[in-house]
Amino acid sequence: MSKVIADPRLMGREVKRIVFTEEQIAARVAEMGRQIADAFPDGELLALGLLKGSFMFTADLVRHIPRPLQVDFIVAGSYGAGTVSSGQVRLLYDPETSIEGKHVLLVEDIVDSGRTMQKLIDILETRRPKSLQICALLHKNIAEHLEHPVRFIGFDAPNEFLVGYGLDHAENFRHVPYIASLA
Ligand code: PRP
Repeated sequence: MSKVIADPRLMGREVKRIVFTEEQIAARVAEMGRQIADAFPDGELLALGLLKGSFMFTADLVRHIPRPLQVDFIVAGSYGAGTVSSGQVRLLYDPETSIEGKHVLLVEDIVDSGRTMQKLIDILETRRPKSLQICALLHKNIAEHLEHPVRFIGFDAPNEFLVGYGLDHAENFRHVPYIASLA
């Protein structure tokens, strides 16, 4: 049963339900920040947010990591213009911050097929980070044969079309402060 929520940000689109509320997200992000701080007791830490989807998560998460760190972003795109992804990922924005010798935390909004993450890890590993870990707010757990497990996961996510808190549908709804499943 889908419904219309009285929120002008949803532009009248029907949703199945709100999957994670603002309060649930805030509490979990704060926990993740503490967990990450504990996991990196020393060394230089670089949080690399994968745009655009992780802009909100990255901004909230780093404020909950009580240790020195640097923040930069990375923008990836698929090669080719077809509707079916070619599976090749290239960097559209390459972080200026140096990676070598640092603990690098790749911050993703959602792991769906896992393809983006896998390819980015391959690219980033060539730059000799001290360590490379993935942090994802949402994980659909549908990706098979992931070579690089996701170290920090916010929530297991249903295999539905999710919007809000950075996630979009045709560039809309990224600013919705909760995560909803579109009908
Ligand atoms: C989405 C999402 C993840 C990726 C996950 O990004 O933000 O980065 O897809 O999918 P995968 O696990 O199947 O690779 P998208 O390419 O839509 O760009 P956006 O972040 O700019 O919305």
